[in-house]
Amino acid sequence: MTIDILQSEWDARFPGSGSRLELFFSPGRVNLIGEHTDYNGGYVFPCALSFGTYLLARKIDEPVIRMATTNFDFTADIPIVSNYQKIGEEWVNYPLGVINEFAQRGCSITGLELLYSGNIPNKSGLSSSASIELVTAVALNHFFNTGFSRIDLVKIGRAAENRFVGVNCGIMDQFAVGMGKKDHAIFLKCDTLDFELVPIKLDGFKLVIANTNKSRGLADSKYNERVAECQAAVKMLSAGNPISLLAEMNLADFLANEHFITDEVIKRRARHVISENDRTFEAVEVLKEGNLIRFGQLMNDSHDSLRDDYEVTGIELDTLVAESRKIPGVIGSRMTGAGFGGCTVSLVKDEAIDRMIQEVGKNYLEKTGLKAEFYVAEIGDGAGVIG
Ligand code: GLA
Repeated sequence: MTIDILQSEWDARFPGSGSRLELFFSPGRVNLIGEHTDYNGGYVFPCALSFGTYLLARKIDEPVIRMATTNFDFTADIPIVSNYQKIGEEWVNYPLGVINEFAQRGCSITGLELLYSGNIPNKSGLSSSASIELVTAVALNHFFNTGFSRIDLVKIGRAAENRFVGVNCGIMDQFAVGMGKKDHAIFLKCDTLDFELVPIKLDGFKLVIANTNKSRGLADSKYNERVAECQAAVKMLSAGNPISLLAEMNLADFLANEHFITDEVIKRRARHVISENDRTFEAVEVLKEGNLIRFGQLMNDSHDSLRDDYEVTGIELDTLVAESRKIPGVIGSRMTGAGFGGCTVSLVKDEAIDRMIQEVGKNYLEKTGLKAEFYVAEIGDGAGVIG
C-alpha cells in the first residue's frame, strides 16, 4: 500500500530523468525492556517492527539533492556541498544529517532524488526518526558503494541525530532498526555493542502496542535534561568509586554508594537507570527459560521506575498502563521509548486482546479525552534494499 502510494506520486514530484528507481525499507522498533539505559552503557532489549519507512530513490546528473515525503508537505532541493546546515525543525533534518555524516567521512555524494513514505505513527516513540535515518544510510551506501558495514551505518544514524538534529540519544533505536531480525529481539550491551538475537516465542501471548496519541511535546529538551542528570550522577558517584557510565554499577553497588549523591532528584534518576539495567538482564534470562509471568512483572517494575524515579511517563502513559493492567490476561504493561507520550507495550494472553482493546480504549478515552490506537506487534527484519 505504502509502495503503491510512492510509485503513483513519483512522476508528479520528480518528472525529470535519472538512474533506475530503487526501493529501500527500514522498520520502526519497540523496546521490550531497558529504557534510558542505552546512553548509560547498559542493556536494552528492542525488536524491529513490520511497519516502517519506505524510500524510493535514484541518482541524477544535477548537483542537487531533492527530498520529499508523502507524510508532510515540506520538500527541499539542497545543493551538494561539503557541510550541510540544519533546516529549522523540518523532517528533512534526519536524512540531511545522515548525508552530512557521509560527507564528513569523505564520501562524495552526488545528485539524488529521494521520496519517502512512512507508516510508523509519527512522534509515537516507535522510532520513526531512526527509521528514516537508517533507510537513508542504507540507500547512500548502496548508491555510492561506500562499503560501510551495518554497524557503521547504525553509528552514522546515531551521529546524525546527536550532531545534526541535536538529540543526545543513545544507540538503541538505530541498532534495532538496522540490525533487527524477524521474530527476534536484540539483547544489546550499549557500551561494547555486544549483542545476541533472542527468539521471541510467546506461546499463547502477544505483544500489544498502544499509542496514547499524545504527541511528545517537549520530549527532546526533557530527554537531553535526563542525559545531563545521568552525567551528574556519574560525577558524584565517582567520588566513592570511579565510573564513567552509570551501568558500570549494579543495584547493590549503587546502594552502597548512593550517599555520594547529594541531590535527591539525581539520586532517583541513577536508581532508575541502575535498577533498570539489572531488570533487563534478568528479563532476558527469564524469557529464555519461558517464564513469561516474571518477564511481565519486570515490565511492570520498569514502568513504575520510569514513572516514579525517572519521571518520563505522564498522565496518558500512566492511564493506559493502569487500565491495561486491570484486564485479566495482561501480565505486563509499560511505556516504551523515550516517554513523555508515545506508546505502551503490553504482554497479553491471546484471548484477552479483544477485551483489552475495547475496555482500555473506552476507559482511556473517558479519562483523558484521547483516542488510543492498538497494534498487535509483528517483529520484522532490519533495514535493507528491496529492489
Ligand atoms: C529514545 C532514544 C533512545 C533511548 C530511548 C529510551 O528512543 O532515541 O536512544 O534512550 O529513548 O530508552
